[in-house]
Amino acid sequence: MLEQILGKMIDPKEGFHWLLKKLPISSLNLRLDFDLFSRPHYAYCIYQACYIAQKLSLTKISAIEFGVAGGNGLKAIEAIVEEIEIATGVEVEIYGFDSGKGLPKPEDPRDLPYIWQQGFFAMDENALRQTLKKSALVLGDVKDTVADFVTKYQPAPIGAVFHDLDYYSSTVAALKLFECENKYLLPRVFCYFDDIMSSNIGIISESVGQLCAIKEYSQQHDNRKLEKVNGLNYIRYFPSRWNDQIFVLHCFDHPLYSNYIHPDLDRQLKLQSCGAWLIVNS
Ligand SMILES: C[S@@+](CC[C@H](N)C(=O)[O-])C[C@H]1O[C@@H](n2cnc3c(N)ncnc32)[C@H](O)[C@@H]1O
Repeated sequence: MLEQILGKMIDPKEGFHWLLKKLPISSLNLRLDFDLFSRPHYAYCIYQACYIAQKLSLTKISAIEFGVAGGNGLKAIEAIVEEIEIATGVEVEIYGFDSGKGLPKPEDPRDLPYIWQQGFFAMDENALRQTLKKSALVLGDVKDTVADFVTKYQPAPIGAVFHDLDYYSSTVAALKLFECENKYLLPRVFCYFDDIMSSNIGIISESVGQLCAIKEYSQQHDNRKLEKVNGLNYIRYFPSRWNDQIFVLHCFDHPLYSNYIHPDLDRQLKLQSCGAWLIVNS
């Protein structure tokens, strides 16, 4: 606590951000731009997916959380979706995948058993079901549930996926979802990976955990690449840790991948007169 207060005093921008979070700001755009949602990374991915859907004249998308545990993430998604659906007119189906019993037995050293153990993060299914408004729970080991998910649920195109299964092996299984037909995917799918940042004990690098699963996925697929959104922190008002945790699945073989979606219909860089150049660059 003392550390946090000192941090805010040392960094005036962080102090200002903390103040903003206390204000009753209702504008969705401001709340998105200034990271005022409790999970700004979830809001960012869902909003960007809805923007793409809007531009492609799609009326519905799906948002998925892999790893639900107690359900706080799924509840946060429901609250965000409620606002974004109204603002964008795009409907969002929500799916939460989980064993229902917490982490399974680690099966590979890359699952990082030195920080995760079987049974961690168990779900109270009854309590969660009572509070959920519209999410569907897909319970069972993701190795089984991912296999027939699209056939069974016929989901709207998947636009945002929150990966929080902790293990390398579980994430490999979850990424098999990205082998489905293009009709079940937006051409670009926003993904958040919760477990790719190190702690002093949970040392993360490309050969372990979720980062390893991401790397292998891209190596194994020519037309689909799952890669970090480069430079996201430079376009945020409040650069933050989550900016480094956002990846996008590029589906190069998707029939809508190349459709133009930029808000400006014509983009030109006119030659400026010398005087204007001096004013602009002074
Ligand atoms: C850290 S928790 C998720 C926390 C949640 N996203 C949140 O924000 O509150 C990780 C979850 O992944 C689930 N999990 C891990 N491997 C799994 C697998 N192979 N199949 C199904 N669920 C799995 C566990 O049951 C556990 O609840």
